[in-house]
Amino acid sequence: MRKKVTVVGAGNVGASVALRLADKELADVVIIDILEGIPQGKALDTLQAGPVMRSDSQVTGTNDYKDTANSDLVVITAGFPRKPGMTRDDLLKKNYDVIKPTTEQVVKHSPNCILIIVTNPLDAMCQAALRMSGFPKHRVIGMAGILDSARFRTFIAQELKVSVENVQAFVMGGHGDTMVPLVRFSQVAGIPLTELLDAATIERIVQRTRDGGAEIVKYLKAGSAFYAPSAAVMEMVEAILKDKKKILPCAAYLEGEYGIQGLYVGVPVKLGENGIEQIIEVKLTADEQKALQKSAGAVKELVDVIKI
Ligand code: LAC
Repeated sequence: MRKKVTVVGAGNVGASVALRLADKELADVVIIDILEGIPQGKALDTLQAGPVMRSDSQVTGTNDYKDTANSDLVVITAGFPRKPGMTRDDLLKKNYDVIKPTTEQVVKHSPNCILIIVTNPLDAMCQAALRMSGFPKHRVIGMAGILDSARFRTFIAQELKVSVENVQAFVMGGHGDTMVPLVRFSQVAGIPLTELLDAATIERIVQRTRDGGAEIVKYLKAGSAFYAPSAAVMEMVEAILKDKKKILPCAAYLEGEYGIQGLYVGVPVKLGENGIEQIIEVKLTADEQKALQKSAGAVKELVDVIKI
């Protein structure tokens, strides 16, 4: 049986996710948006790439949640991007007002789906979706860690002039300024990063990773990144639909892991057909733990604003 994935939001992120899923023939894809015509047009365009891309994925666009019924997986990208002059709290409240009704509609029509949240501020929106959906925590997952790690890996590969395929790295914490790129767990062809780069270079790369989203917003002015974010979503969807049991950094609801209680934070998880099948706990140094706590504190502040 073909799998069905719904992508909520036909903006740059949503449309790119739909295209990547169809290109890889991972599922039939439904794109839904409140704007009339946009999901239909982008879906038809994506569908017509099928013969060339050798993909038989069916891609449809709609404004009616009925068409999303019985999706195996739903990716929520709907929301406003941050505009100049907008505070984090402004964005938080605006997107909370989007996530609430969206999650309600999604859950009504696909009560057994796995939810992947992409809307920012990411960790707080995951928490909102978890509460609104009433889903168990393993079925509400946030995309951010793969994107942040991919940026870290890109910069390391550029610095060393080696293949990105050689670079393993991961980033924990919230998707924001306080994210925690873990140098100790980063390596190039199995060689610890610290053997290959000096401390100042590593620190520069770490900082660029933290600012990775903002660097792109500065160039684009009217929006944020979408190619790398959609690639990250695609990796999560593939891991789940193919039951790969792949270990990836994702936003997960923690209940005591890493000393964090009742909060979404980016950690390594195992993704398979049930969603998050395991939260991987690694022993952190005192400094790493402190940085993670600080990052969790930043997520908590946002969550407290919307009281979820
Ligand atoms: C980024 C924004 C979209 O990191 O969260 O690019």
